[in-house]
Amino acid sequence: MTLALPPTASPRSLPLRLPRVCLALSGGTIEEMLAIAESMGRDNPFLEFRLDYLKQPLSVLPKLHRFLETHQYVTAIGTCRRADNGGQFKGSLASQLEVLTKAHTAGCQIVDLELQSAVKAKAEAVARLRSRAGLILSFHDFHATRQLEETLEKMLKIPADFYKLVSTATTLSDNVTMMKFLQTRGDQQALVGLCMGEQGIISRVLSLRAGSVFTFAAPSADQATAKGQIGVRELRSIYRIEQVDAATRVFGVAGDPIGHSLSPVIMNAALRRENVNGVYLALHAKTLKDLMQCVRGIPVHGLSVTMPYKRSILGQLDNTDAHSSKIGACNTVVRGQDGKLYGFNTDIAGVVRPLEQRLAIENAKVLVLGAGGAARAAVFGLKERGAEVWVLNRTAAKAQKLARQAKAHSIKRADLRKVAFDVIINATPVGMGDTKDCPLKDQEIQARVVFDMVYDPVETHLLHVARAKGFAVIPGIEMFVQQAARQFEIWTGKPAPAGDMLRAVMVALQERAAAQKQAANQKQKP
Ligand code: ATR
Repeated sequence: MTLALPPTASPRSLPLRLPRVCLALSGGTIEEMLAIAESMGRDNPFLEFRLDYLKQPLSVLPKLHRFLETHQYVTAIGTCRRADNGGQFKGSLASQLEVLTKAHTAGCQIVDLELQSAVKAKAEAVARLRSRAGLILSFHDFHATRQLEETLEKMLKIPADFYKLVSTATTLSDNVTMMKFLQTRGDQQALVGLCMGEQGIISRVLSLRAGSVFTFAAPSADQATAKGQIGVRELRSIYRIEQVDAATRVFGVAGDPIGHSLSPVIMNAALRRENVNGVYLALHAKTLKDLMQCVRGIPVHGLSVTMPYKRSILGQLDNTDAHSSKIGACNTVVRGQDGKLYGFNTDIAGVVRPLEQRLAIENAKVLVLGAGGAARAAVFGLKERGAEVWVLNRTAAKAQKLARQAKAHSIKRADLRKVAFDVIINATPVGMGDTKDCPLKDQEIQARVVFDMVYDPVETHLLHVARAKGFAVIPGIEMFVQQAARQFEIWTGKPAPAGDMLRAVMVALQERAAAQKQAANQKQKP
């Protein structure tokens, strides 16, 4: 039995305040879309039905109607974007208008029409559509972020309820352009704005702060209708999108690559726990110049810095602490009240804090493996606290140089037996990932405390052997949490909830391991 659509509209009114997150649905069939709407609609009552993704959009409207009639709490947008304008609908302009009109009859309080279609259609046809439903006039630029003002001026010639401008970010600075546009024009018009693309991810959170009426999310990251769309659970639980407002401070971690960083998980957990009106984002910075433009333009209040910018960022800052200068690297930036950027290095806190919870650092004999940035933080930090430090590195000359600079010793591998170490610290990447690699042979692992800076996996082979021998072990995750805790303190002036941060990162690592296992299992299936 096919359901007939009622001939006249039974208008479902728009809520006075629209929810801030619209869940975009693009399942292959209306049944799939409605199944997601059914399961996620209670928590996400603002839904966009991408009718253009369906084979015969008109024929499914009775089903949509039935759903909306029985789910009165849902606010629905009907969209049937034409293929010429980046959608999937291959029908004529007249058919598009017919779908949208009938989508309203089926219960969509809002319909979305692209600028290009609106320009081609007769003004009366667009006005008629708007007289029935709330109208979003939309424009998508799939290549760049440019001419936002000019495009809006063109759009304003056509009366609509919301003007939606979506561009593509190819740099972080493109997000700044979009945010400034929303901040200046959002007072006069109901604007929805964001940037698509991997570089535009931050705009999905920050656009609300800049004045966008709402933002879009996907049911999950792999069901995105646009590149860069964030899964709705992540948007709510990690980024606390409902709380983001004009006063929200922006924090972030900058690096290249940055996709796998766990910093957003632990920092947002800390911000939530301490009731700080802030949001912490991953900034995939392809150049230092772009990063600094973004930091200054948003502006970013606090920044974690990771590879490859820990050294080069020093030249961009107004002042740095003694640790950054000694180590020659900065992992933390804070924007002072004077607008200036100050650099710190909290890796030292990341090394010292977990160690001092286990033993007295003064006069302790410590072996540091490696002579890179992480090793420098360990060597200088421990020397400052009165430890006696030996450096062992694959490239001996680098160990000698670091030892000279820090007034420590360098040591050859063959001489390890000559010193009874209290602590061994691995500051090389050996042991990272799915491997049994270890920077030392089992018989060389001799100390009261063994500290591995590698944090994924949580228990490396080095730690496994040390634990089996009865030594105290410090997993790299503790360093990760403690350096982050110190960053939190620098940015907010509040003590960091280190316990909650550790729990958040443990859960994230477990989830990641489970997802990897599942992916591997699926790969094995024929
Ligand atoms: P980070 O800033 O994380 O410390 P880094 O500056 O690249 O990274 O330093 C990595 C350190 O781990 C270096 O001391 C490196 O030794 P070299 O100086 O000989 O390059 C060490 N390292 C990296 N891979 C290693 C391996 N497979 N075996 C032993 N040491 C290794």
